[in-house]
Amino acid sequence: MSDSAPDIRRLFEPRGVAVVGASAQPGKIGHKILANILAGGYRGRTFPVNPRGGEVLGLPACKSVEEIDGPVDVAVLAIPVEKVHDAVVGCGKQGIPFLLVVTSGFSEVGNVAEERRILAAAREHGVRIVGPNIFGFYSGAAALNATFGPRDITPGNVAIITQSGALGVAMIGKTAVENIGLSAIVSVGNKADIDEADLLGYLAGHDGTKVIFMYVEGVKEGGKLVRALRAATAQKPVVVIKSGRSKRGAVAAASHTGSLAGSDEIFDDVMRQCHVLRAETVKEALSWCKLFAHVAPPSGDNAVIVTNGGGMGVLATDACEKYGVHLYDDHEELKRAFAPLMPSFGSARNPIDLTGEAGVEHYRGALDAALRNPAIHSAIGLYCETAVLDIVSCTPILAEAERAWRAGGKPLVFALFGGGRVAEQLDALRRTGASAFDEPYEAVQSLGALYRHRDWLRQPQGAAETVEVDAARIQAVADQARADGRRFLLAPEASAVLDAAGIPRPQTALARTLDEAVRSAEAIGFPVVLKVVSRDILHKSDVGGVALHLDDAGEVIDAYEAILHNCRARVPKAVIDGIEVCEMAAQGVETIVGARRDASVGPIVMFGLGGIYVEVLKDVAFRALPLGRGDAGAMLAQIRSYPLLLGVRGEKRKDTDAVQATILRVGAILQRCPDVSDIEVNPLVVYEQGKGARAVDARILLAEREGGKGHG
Ligand code: COA
Repeated sequence: MSDSAPDIRRLFEPRGVAVVGASAQPGKIGHKILANILAGGYRGRTFPVNPRGGEVLGLPACKSVEEIDGPVDVAVLAIPVEKVHDAVVGCGKQGIPFLLVVTSGFSEVGNVAEERRILAAAREHGVRIVGPNIFGFYSGAAALNATFGPRDITPGNVAIITQSGALGVAMIGKTAVENIGLSAIVSVGNKADIDEADLLGYLAGHDGTKVIFMYVEGVKEGGKLVRALRAATAQKPVVVIKSGRSKRGAVAAASHTGSLAGSDEIFDDVMRQCHVLRAETVKEALSWCKLFAHVAPPSGDNAVIVTNGGGMGVLATDACEKYGVHLYDDHEELKRAFAPLMPSFGSARNPIDLTGEAGVEHYRGALDAALRNPAIHSAIGLYCETAVLDIVSCTPILAEAERAWRAGGKPLVFALFGGGRVAEQLDALRRTGASAFDEPYEAVQSLGALYRHRDWLRQPQGAAETVEVDAARIQAVADQARADGRRFLLAPEASAVLDAAGIPRPQTALARTLDEAVRSAEAIGFPVVLKVVSRDILHKSDVGGVALHLDDAGEVIDAYEAILHNCRARVPKAVIDGIEVCEMAAQGVETIVGARRDASVGPIVMFGLGGIYVEVLKDVAFRALPLGRGDAGAMLAQIRSYPLLLGVRGEKRKDTDAVQATILRVGAILQRCPDVSDIEVNPLVVYEQGKGARAVDARILLAEREGGKGHG
């Protein structure tokens, strides 16, 4: 947003709203939106706009936006696609800063040109657009329900940003039955202009919003989103569902939104880096939001499980381990606190097993004692259907306990398992606002999300590290390749880039004659490696263009001639720039460090176990730029083969500092040199602690430019 861009607060708290396309006909979308605004109790003035004039839903209609008399900050456009452009211009001239373009028929159906045209008109007139192709917008701060979804939206403190309109409408209904109150729901549709990142800025600072939930299909400006997420999660939890996980889902999402879904693994890693809670299902996401909305993260680690069924207790115990929930284990204290409150053959060890004999008073007593115990910070209440304890009599006790826990600032979640009566009571319990599930794993997972957010708040995201690279020198290399009509760098050019970035590599020299090759090899010291350098040969080994382990001048002479012979025979038209003579790197752990510009999350770095294994093991970690040393360290720790770097079977620890430094430097190349699009150092050979790491091979690509190769 430029400095002159309107304040996004006006979108959420508009002084007046116009509905362009407000129709008197009840079946029309423009009618429904106006009706919802009026029914929702919006506090500002509302102006229906319809060329017929007259009255719509009791309000006088303006024949055009120009007739509006009074400040309007938001106009909802519910008119056919071919009329939107002129309406955008009209609103712009009227000084309306935000437009909600409900109309479909733009880029989502391939009509990219019209979407660009309305965007250009909006830019020209200083107007910002939400949409097009949206179901509208709800802002609790203004009591404004400008959607054509359900009329009743439960106010509260969960904000939803959704790329899918239909899912958004359905979520309004779902949140209402689950007693999840909303502070805002924004349908972003095709995201021609305003996107999730713009909205996050407002919602992160909005006092009435405790948690933000985003449903994302495709991301257009990844770097911007990552920055906004990092800033938002430092203030409040953000839960994200990114659809298009499966290859099939990605295709469906792409055709739905007109934007491509990026690779799921990368997205997952980057969300973790941004401290975003990624949910797999809408149900999961809404459960987490409900809990976040009602209670702050626990002040300590200790959880207790209260159950009337041993099996349920064991399942919940397993789930606690899986989702990082620590079970209180001071057995003396547990016995002292709970033994007097349970049937004689119950167990006060955690899980606190009230047994099948348990009655409502046992539940009440145990949950109350846990709430009052300062050493206990959260609880999981479990119920298994039994003949002894009827769920109908138990539900009010559980609801009462949950209210007390919420008032006491401690989280309490439930899982109730059984037949039809239990399912009914579960719904009733949920409607009271309790976080209640039919599965102990789901209950513990929600509690785990709360703990994860708390842990993230305690470990703020590391500051980005500034690493100096000689960007001018790298650009000069890139210019040279471009002048030569190439987007890829030849080996000596890639070496020059590594040098400019301060990344250690084996010594190399380019030989154009046999004599030069021998002299270079002697200067570097044996053993050496020879590699062909040719813009026409990318896969050197495949054509016999590489010779390893050359121990003396005689072997260099033979290899030099063999390489030239092989290349001429297999790629007769190849222009050969020379033969590179390289120091033969000593053996170490082969890793890979890469960087590229990802469609979904912007510029990223990658680290993994390298060499020939990378394709098979796919043991890699990704992070978005900018990057701190802590992020680089976390990448190393994340890969499964991390123990190889720590030293296995009596080997010494490897130089992980050198690996981290390389990751930061490779990232810095991408950040400082917009012309570089892909870097892959493979292998980066890592030696023992203190002995560094060396980039044995590097592939570097330049960014694609519109209009093709060359200078551009
Ligand atoms: N200014 C003000 N009003 C205008 C207008 C203009 N420039 N041009 C037309 N109108 C009026 C029409 O006269 C009509 O009012 P009326 O009923 O009194 O005649 C009203 O606006 C609506 O126009 P109409 O031509 O009847 O369109 P519609 O209501 O059938 O469809 C949309 C309009 C926007 C709903 C439709 O084009 C559309 O995009 N539908 C899909 C919406 C959607 O699903 N969005 C995504 C959800 S996730």
